[in-house]
Amino acid sequence: MQLREPSKPDWQSDNPLKELKADIALPQPCSVIIFGGGGDLTRRKLLPALYNQGLDGELPTNFSVVGFALETHDDNSYREFAREGVEKYSRQKLDARYWPDFARTLHYQQGSFDDPEAYQRLKARLEEIEPQFGIPGNRIFYLAIPPSLIETCVRQLKQAGLVSPVDGASPFTRVIVEKPIGRDLESARLINATLCENLDERQIYRIDHYLGKETVQNILVMRFGNAIFEPVWNSRYIDHVQITVAEAEGVGTRAGYYDKAGALRDMVQNHILQLLTLIAMEPPWSMDADVIRNHRQDVLNCLRPIARKDLDDHVVRAQYGQGFVTGEHVPGYRREENIAHDSTTETFVALKVFVDSWRWAGVPFYIRTGKRMPKRASEIAIQFKSIPPILFNSDPDHRLEPNVLALSIQPNEGLSMRIATKLPGPRVRVYPVKMDFRYGSTFGDQSPEAYERLLLDVMAGDATLFMRRDAVEASWVWIQNILDAWAETQTRWLPEYPAGTWGPLESDRLVDADGRRWRML
Ligand code: BG6
Repeated sequence: MQLREPSKPDWQSDNPLKELKADIALPQPCSVIIFGGGGDLTRRKLLPALYNQGLDGELPTNFSVVGFALETHDDNSYREFAREGVEKYSRQKLDARYWPDFARTLHYQQGSFDDPEAYQRLKARLEEIEPQFGIPGNRIFYLAIPPSLIETCVRQLKQAGLVSPVDGASPFTRVIVEKPIGRDLESARLINATLCENLDERQIYRIDHYLGKETVQNILVMRFGNAIFEPVWNSRYIDHVQITVAEAEGVGTRAGYYDKAGALRDMVQNHILQLLTLIAMEPPWSMDADVIRNHRQDVLNCLRPIARKDLDDHVVRAQYGQGFVTGEHVPGYRREENIAHDSTTETFVALKVFVDSWRWAGVPFYIRTGKRMPKRASEIAIQFKSIPPILFNSDPDHRLEPNVLALSIQPNEGLSMRIATKLPGPRVRVYPVKMDFRYGSTFGDQSPEAYERLLLDVMAGDATLFMRRDAVEASWVWIQNILDAWAETQTRWLPEYPAGTWGPLESDRLVDADGRRWRML
């Protein structure tokens, strides 16, 4: 069932948009200095995100960007580099009238990350640019660099005098750190220790771009902005939760990183556990960053460690073999460029997870994520318990489908609810239909990209959607347990699933064993 579209969208007419007080924090004048400013993340995501914010009038008036990296560029060639990125990857088309305004904010400073002189030159350059743009010395350093360089960069920043104190009087310094934060618990702790030695925790913004996705943020509004969900949001009414993050892409050009990471580290340790925390957290009493983060942290602390003896019943890992994705033949993982022929890195993982809290006692959270699945589709589905086997549900051969609330994260952002309804006609026949809300059809324009929202949050000093040190480490503690068990088994092969399918049979068995099924997406 499609809900009738109102003639004028609700949010434009008699139901005025409610803005939270907490939203009032506005982006402050600042320079954004991108370490790795000549790299892929910068070209595909960061510069297009800044461009879109500028085009939408969201950037502070006093603003500049400095790309800092080893590649050779001058300001002009850097502006060309940015233009190509925007033309190819921006959410909104390049607007020839606005482009010159944006381009003049872009600068480039060449330098090596381990060269103290380069930092002095960067500092001098900032001191030259900032007065021209009326920027009072506020700086955001975006570390779009491999994790092995984080330590060098933050130490050098500190030594060069580029980190100001958090005293309420000095201009701000904020440092954005990209994932992966470590490849295991120990390395994550080391990175965090280095960050905290050189910076105040309030200056560190560990980015998890899933938290910036519009539908992910909507989880909080849906749960705590409506009266109907919270009373049933517990083990009494919910049978289980499914979280799927499927990608059609293979390993692509990231073999070097991915083959050392695998799906568990790449997707579950960060993005998927964060989604889980938003679904499972207790109602926060304020939108304050630390209140929300404390509540998310509580969920991580309640994750039941998977015991060695339960590993096979709770975790499935697999690798894609050759197959067809959207009609195109693609090679198996071990045949991908720069992947070892005997690699045992998982490109798919499925897990059964329990949150041992009063609210979630006994409710399984089934998680699956993989590369080379049939399509790009991410969804969180809350499956409610079946109704009693009486009245419409009394026929044992034709049980009614239980209610499902599905939050679609991408690509078709929205939420839908499966409910039972009567088929028109003289007889009582029950049929499951969907009440559907789509962002696109209700709000029109494409939602801003995750990086757009998150960059604005850093400019405004709002850390709600960023990972605190304890969150990173608590997720690693839980993941490490599985990694250690895998390391002990020293497997030489993994179950294979043909590219373009929903994973191996073992993944189906994981849920079948509990009398449940993965949802068809
Ligand atoms: C990244 C992972 O963090 O997220 C990639 O390293 C993955 O492997 C990507 O492809 C998925 O992000 P999105 O926003 O495209 O779902």
